[in-house]
Amino acid sequence: MKKSTSIILSSLVVLGALSTAANADGSVKKGQRAYLKNCKKCHGNGTKGAVLKSQAGWNALFADDGAGIKAVHKGTKGEKFFGSKKFKKYAPHLRAFLHMYGSDSGNVPSCG
Ligand code: HEC
Repeated sequence: MKKSTSIILSSLVVLGALSTAANADGSVKKGQRAYLKNCKKCHGNGTKGAVLKSQAGWNALFADDGAGIKAVHKGTKGEKFFGSKKFKKYAPHLRAFLHMYGSDSGNVPSCG
């Protein structure tokens, strides 16, 4: 009984890890879409946008509810978007996408 319980538990752990990976992948895709919709008009396609910063740079800009990236856009035409609910909703995905393809990531988005 004990053994089967631990087998069940460990398969749950594996399943959990798999679905987290799938979620992370979905988040990158959502972030890419959000980038194309909200950032491309000013910063060019995703390839160009993501390499604006290193992976650590993106983490820093998106830390603290995106305080850094909001500050960068203060007084620019982008300011409105960063103050919006839309930004709040998409920030985790944008971060996932931009981090995945940051300048030092070695990754290049397949389509921009
Ligand atoms: C309406 C235009 C506009 C939109 C939309 C916009 N930006 Fe910007 N962004 C700017 C301007 C203007 C600057 C400041 C000048 C510069 O560094 O290019 C800037 C600066 C930045 C910087 C700093 C660049 C540097 O060299 O330090 C990053 C990173 C950035 N934007 C990312 C984004 C991301 C990600 C999005 C979408 C979520 C976005 N921007 C949406 C106009 C925009």
